[in-house]
Amino acid sequence: MAAVKKAGPRTGLKLGPEYKRAGHVLLHAPSPHKLFGRVPIRHVVLMQMRFDGRLGFPGGFIDPKDGSLEEGLNRELTEELGPGATAAYVTENDYISSWVMENPQKIEGHFYAKQMSLEDLEHLEEGALHAKDHGLEVMGLVRVPLYTLRDGIGGLPAFLCNNFIGKAKEQLLEALGCLGLMPQNKLEEAVWASQK
Ligand code: APR
Ligand code: MG
Ligand code: MG
Repeated sequence: MAAVKKAGPRTGLKLGPEYKRAGHVLLHAPSPHKLFGRVPIRHVVLMQMRFDGRLGFPGGFIDPKDGSLEEGLNRELTEELGPGATAAYVTENDYISSWVMENPQKIEGHFYAKQMSLEDLEHLEEGALHAKDHGLEVMGLVRVPLYTLRDGIGGLPAFLCNNFIGKAKEQLLEALGCLGLMPQNKLEEAVWASQK
């Protein structure tokens, strides 16, 4: 898979009709809660356990019948997350970066991030059990722990040791950094701890 192209106008990627298009999104909401009453949760960040046993972001292939990339992505979100996806409506303004895959099939992918209120995000989580693709393409939603526990590995470092689809891990780290969802030094420490 080619290197991720950094944020810019997403129309900057014009690869031709032989490339299938895909769109995925990181949904997040600020959280005032503390784990064990002392570890700040900071933000709820959603990923999903996929049908292939890997972690990834909600979204999927854009159908040629979809009016636009974002329309296709929003359709995928409704299928994978249920009716609560309307509160996560993604627009061009939510674009972050793109990726290109050549093998086994040619795909150009586009990655977005969208902030929601905690209330809307929790409502989405509740409704996701009734989504069309629940138990099929989507085995369940997961929240990403944005902290490191006292043992130095529990939390984000251990989470990063999971198996991720495509560039999903790099996209997660990119978004946590560029959206300011975690202090840069804490993010770097967690990545380093996950590689030990
Ligand atoms: N980074 C890079 N590639 C990714 C990422 C990511 N974060 N997330 C998904 N992909 C790739 C997947 O490998 C897949 O080939 O993008 C493609 C489409 O994403 P999915 O979410 O898997 O597609 P979806 O439309 O939801 O359909 C699920 O059904 O038609 C089948 O096999 C097809 O994988 C597809 C599945
Ligand atoms: Mg899908
Ligand atoms: Mg999908």
